Amino acid sequence: MRSERRMSPLLALGLLVAGLCSSVHCLPENVVVKEQHRRVEDHTLASSNTDFAFSLYKQLALENPNKNVIFSPLSVSIALGFLSLGARGSTLTEILEGLKFNLTEIQKTEIHQGFQHLLQTLNRPSNQLQLSVGNAMFVQEELKLLDKFIEDAQVLYSSEAFSTNFRDPEAAKSLINDYVKNKTQGKIEELFKHLSPRTVLVLVNYIYFKAQWKTRFDPKDTEQAEFHVSENKTVEVPMMTLDLKTPYFRDEELGCTLVELTYTSNDSALFILPDKGKMQDLEAKLIPETLTRWQESLYPSRIHELYLPKFSIKSNYELKDILSQLGIRKMFADADLSGLTGAGNLVVSQVVHGAALDVDEEGTEGAAATGIGIEKLAFSRTTVHFDRPFLIAVVLKDTQSIIFLGKVTNPNQA
Ligand SMILES: *[C@@H]1O[C@H](CO)[C@@H](O)[C@H](O)[C@H]1NC(C)=O
Ligand SMILES: *[C@@H]1O[C@H](CO)[C@@H](O)[C@H](O)[C@H]1NC(C)=O
Ligand SMILES: *[C@@H]1O[C@H](CO)[C@@H](O)[C@H](O)[C@H]1NC(C)=O
Ligand SMILES: *[C@@H]1O[C@H](CO)[C@@H](O)[C@H](O)[C@H]1NC(C)=O
Repeated sequence: MRSERRMSPLLALGLLVAGLCSSVHCLPENVVVKEQHRRVEDHTLASSNTDFAFSLYKQLALENPNKNVIFSPLSVSIALGFLSLGARGSTLTEILEGLKFNLTEIQKTEIHQGFQHLLQTLNRPSNQLQLSVGNAMFVQEELKLLDKFIEDAQVLYSSEAFSTNFRDPEAAKSLINDYVKNKTQGKIEELFKHLSPRTVLVLVNYIYFKAQWKTRFDPKDTEQAEFHVSENKTVEVPMMTLDLKTPYFRDEELGCTLVELTYTSNDSALFILPDKGKMQDLEAKLIPETLTRWQESLYPSRIHELYLPKFSIKSNYELKDILSQLGIRKMFADADLSGLTGAGNLVVSQVVHGAALDVDEEGTEGAAATGIGIEKLAFSRTTVHFDRPFLIAVVLKDTQSIIFLGKVTNPNQA
């Protein structure tokens, strides 16, 4: 029963993190999904996922200055967790450490079990919340995946598997994009803009979320109002308004105001409004401890006038460079993905992520997907260029006698 679940503050941020226009007077907001923490691993997993969420947020905000940011850290974490089933050696260590797991405290199997339990918990049916999270793999017909990988993918990551003809990259891309579009209720339309022609395997994670506010906004009260994009730029937006009692906290230390809006499912969205000019300071302080402090400080309060813009934002990211910044590099270059097929000739070529978030008077609808493209390394062509002095030995096979031995320093010289 969802009703017996109590929010784990650390997982609170897991589902979607959004920064609405990361410039001066803007609103970032975090849409959250609660999770019960029955077990220590769940707590460790949640804490690592939050740490990863903030680290990824900082990179995305840095690389997309003055743009809306929206992504699902949970989707990226699960997709990389899934990929790590097939990684070995330092490729594996890098992925897990990049996901902020402390490998002296938690073991690989506990991490996978943590994701397994998380997927089961998130997919529990509820009549107050639409939430589905899942994984799939698209496999080139002749690629022989190891039985162990196939079994772990099904058992731990509940992955579906589809045999795919990647020799027709356009058809393969449509198949994957249509699958994601279907699972996200049409919200993520084109996860892969292009697919590398050497792709032999694609891993996908998707998330779909829809929830209604416990206290809804009245559309009759929504009016056009100013939103200060930056010091010198103002836009008109539909501004919703409400008088309600809800968790609130004024953080003097970081110079921001927090309002938590609750869904009928008791999950919630945390809206964080930095003081004028304080967005960057706040972004720098986004660490799991800050979130914990906020969760402990929020207190039900009467807010006489809450003004919140109605918005609908979308994103599409290529995460290769960003993940490299977070220390996940080997999987893109000299990868050991031998846990997939037993061979060492596979490498990750693409990590794509798409997310969409709509906030209106009724509630929130959000979707995200992460796709990991894996390709076969091209047979490396061996070139040896005798363009400088060299030696020659002519050997008779039967007697192993060297019949000629010489050095060529200038082939033109007689
Ligand atoms: C939400 O929490 C309230 C108060 O704790 C409880 O009465 C209600 O049943 C919960 N609703 C759901 C859907 O869990
Ligand atoms: C990992 O955990 C160990 C033991 O608890 C601790 O000493 C170490 O500092 C941690 N490493 C990181 C990077 O947090
Ligand atoms: C998704 O696929 C299922 C089964 O094929 C279908 O019933 C459903 O209408 C599709 N949903 C969308 C949004 O396309
Ligand atoms: C905003 O306008 C002021 C005064 O006109 C100017 O000094 C400042 O550089 C502008 N800021 C931005 C971000 O364009």
